[in-house]
Amino acid sequence: MNLILLGPPGAGKGTQAVRIAERKNLLHLSSGDILREERKAKTELGLQAQDYMDRGALVPDDLILAMMMSHIEKAGAYAGFLLDGFPRTVAQAEGLDDLLKSKKTPLEHVVKIDVPRDALLDRLTGRLYCPKCGRTYHTKFSPPKEPGVCDNSGEPLIRRADDTVEVVSERLEIYERQTAPVVDHYERQGLVRTVSGVGNINQISERIIEACRE
Ligand code: AP5
Repeated sequence: MNLILLGPPGAGKGTQAVRIAERKNLLHLSSGDILREERKAKTELGLQAQDYMDRGALVPDDLILAMMMSHIEKAGAYAGFLLDGFPRTVAQAEGLDDLLKSKKTPLEHVVKIDVPRDALLDRLTGRLYCPKCGRTYHTKFSPPKEPGVCDNSGEPLIRRADDTVEVVSERLEIYERQTAPVVDHYERQGLVRTVSGVGNINQISERIIEACRE
């Protein structure tokens, strides 16, 4: 199963992607997590990306496409891939279409997660993140068992630099301007299913899995 999760910042793409990838044995590829790893390792790509990320702007398409293509190549060892945070522009979606066509690998599902704007702001400004395994938590909605420590890796949790009110507002605007057209791109291919991202995290996982059966 090859699947894309789409939705605005804070919709719960990362939260759901980790769970669904585990259940379905999919290679989970989060462009945001990969970029944060590149930054941590101070690679050329990480250094090029950091200013865009801190401002809430999108990293240029050519850098993202090259990065994601090399990761998608590794999906052969899994039952498919689950993309989270990519593609984020129509140019990225077209680049992905070309790659999948050349590999004769069909994209089967595009699930869009809908959450009202006010809730997105609450979620992002209370988010905690594990820099080691990428798992996300929320101070109120999804706290770790031990405050400030990742349940999975035992590492101290941090807040993302781009989760301030100002940067989140910029990211939401960029989503509307540059990423919402990606939904139309996949609508034209008849692939989009929309699920509500409001409610209990497990219920939302079930909605996504159900949407992939349609
Ligand atoms: P990225 O890391 O991809 O950020 P994003 O898309 O803005 O998405 P988020 O990670 O903020 O949100 P999410 O939907 O994954 O929500 P989450 O599950 O964490 O990108 C960061 C930056 O990298 C970009 O701004 C850009 O600069 C660059 N970049 C990345 N990809 C790029 C690309 N393709 N092209 C160009 N640039 C790119 O949940 C949020 C919070 O809500 C958490 O605290 C969680 O615990 C909580 N939560 C989740 N579900 C629920 C629920 N049901 N109820 C209550 N709380 C919930």
